[in-house]
Formats: sequence, C-alpha cells, structure tokens
Amino acid sequence: MRVLSLRLTSPGPAQTEQLAGNLAQLLQPGDVITLEAPLGGGKTTFVRGLAAGLGVPEDEVSSPTFVIWQIYQGRLRLHHLDAYRLRSAEELEEIGFPETLAGQDVVVLEWPGVAERLLPADRLHVRLEYGVGEDERALEFEGRGSWRQRLEGWQP
Ligand SMILES: Nc1ncnc2c1ncn2[C@@H]1O[C@H](COP(=O)(O)OP(=O)(O)OP(=O)(O)O)[C@@H](O)[C@H]1O
Ligand SMILES: [Mg+2]
Repeated sequence: MRVLSLRLTSPGPAQTEQLAGNLAQLLQPGDVITLEAPLGGGKTTFVRGLAAGLGVPEDEVSSPTFVIWQIYQGRLRLHHLDAYRLRSAEELEEIGFPETLAGQDVVVLEWPGVAERLLPADRLHVRLEYGVGEDERALEFEGRGSWRQRLEGWQP
C-alpha cells in the first residue's frame, strides 16, 4: 500500500503538543494512530496535545505504561494504549482491543509492533526521534489509506 510521508521538526514539548493538537482537527470516528518513539521520545507529550485538540482536559493524560489502556472523552472518545509490556497480539485480543479498533472511537497505540496483525491498513503512523540538542524532536508522519490524502491537505 502506498504511503505518504511528512517530516517535521519540533523544537520543544510545547510545539509537539501544538502540532498534535492541530492534527487532532483531522481526526474522524474510527481513526487509528500508531506511535513509535524511543523512551522519553515524546509519546505522552504528543498524546496530550492530541487529546487537548479533541477537547480533553490536559491533566487527564499520562503515560499509560502501568495502566495499559486509558480512555479520554473529547469531541471523540480517545483510547490511549501502550503495548510496551505485551508480548503478543493475543494479549490485546484478550482485553477486547479488536472490538475497539472496529468501533467509532479514535485509538492511539504506543509500541504497536506486537499488534501489527490486528491493525487496519488505513492508519497514521507517527515516529518521533531525538534531534539536535535535548529538546528537538523529528516527527515523521506516515499516512496510509485515507490518511494519505488527509496528510496531503494538512497545514500544520
Ligand atoms: N520536542 C519535544 N517534544 C516532546 N517532548 C519533549 C520535547 N523536548 C523535550 N521533551 C520532553 O521529553 C520528556 C519525555 O517526553 P514524554 O514523556 O512525552 O516521552 P515518552 O515517549 O512518553 O516517554 P516514555 O517512553 O518514558 O513514556 C518530557 O519531559 C518532555 O517535556
Ligand atoms: Mg510516555
């Protein structure tokens, strides 16, 4: 499947949040975003911005590493999952993740590797990487399916 890639640089956490908040305006029911970044790469910061863009109070968003699944209510309901501690897709099946993916809520999944076979082809993959200096991050957006067009028309 063809992919549309967009690469942006964020100079600090506030800008990452703002960028994610802006991206949230593109979100539609049933959307799936996968998030890949090294430890401390800015995943929680990104999701906080995304949630804020959907109208969720910011202090509700934290790192879901211990609680692996959090739900925030905004313009759309946002499911925030972290598969870091999971070893197989079966573990996500046992907790009902496929049903949520098939529904009308928005799903953001950190560490999507193990979940690959459960994920829809139509999705946005976001990769955060460390840049130059402590606060810079490179953000790479990879849009598949409907996301190709949406990314093309996006004005971040
Ligand atoms: N440009 C940036 N974008 C996002 N976060 C940044 C940036 N620069 C610095 N940071 C800081 O990096 C730290 C880690 O960010 P965050 O907690 O969002 O990462 P994470 O990927 O969720 O980490 P973890 O893997 O521990 O869950 C935070 O203190 C955040 O403010
Ligand atoms: Mg985190």
